[in-house]
Amino acid sequence: MKFFIDTANIEEIRSANELGILAGVTTNPSLVAKEGVSFHDRLREITAEVTEGSVSAEVIAEDAAGMIAEGKELAAIAPNITVKVPMTLEGLKAVKAFSDLNIKTNVTLIFNANQALLAARAGATYVSPFLGRLDDIGHDGMQLIATISEIFDRHNINTEIIAASIRHPLHVTDAALHGASIATVPYNVLGQLVKHPLTDQGIEKFLADWNKSNQ
Ligand code: E4P
Repeated sequence: MKFFIDTANIEEIRSANELGILAGVTTNPSLVAKEGVSFHDRLREITAEVTEGSVSAEVIAEDAAGMIAEGKELAAIAPNITVKVPMTLEGLKAVKAFSDLNIKTNVTLIFNANQALLAARAGATYVSPFLGRLDDIGHDGMQLIATISEIFDRHNINTEIIAASIRHPLHVTDAALHGASIATVPYNVLGQLVKHPLTDQGIEKFLADWNKSNQ
């Protein structure tokens, strides 16, 4: 499983990229709105930072023609832009059009397996099931990842599964175990993944012992 970062904050992207583990970035309208910057300018900054991995940029239009027009403009910003399209009937039409144009797509707001299968059949490059938001309403987000993964395997579907709406480290481990190809992780969770109290205690003890014997 690869790591994307789920943010539109350039400092967070830069700092995650320095770790050498970053395979891409996902943004959404809420994340961009939080930044208070021009969407296209921010995408230019992000794609200058992450030059090879996929950078998902979401369309706002609700009709296929509008999504296609917006998506073409977004895709023109950099070759690694992936157009993020919501899972709707109009979204599916747009995904098919983007697929014909060789523009990569990430179908977002996936909450059941049929939505994922339809998106894949329309030509989606990625599907994004939202784990945290399903867990929030008492459903089993991880089971959805497992189901989509099984269906895609059984039918030789190449669309990649992005585990999205990740809230904590256990989501990351379980997404890897249940067949997600990518986890898109918020910056704070990325920090939590690195940490273990025994690692910190171990470093402290090694340093203390070293300093004692080298006085
Ligand atoms: C995915 O691409 C979305 O941007 C994101 O994971 C949504 O997460 P949230 O449910 O924490 O808003």
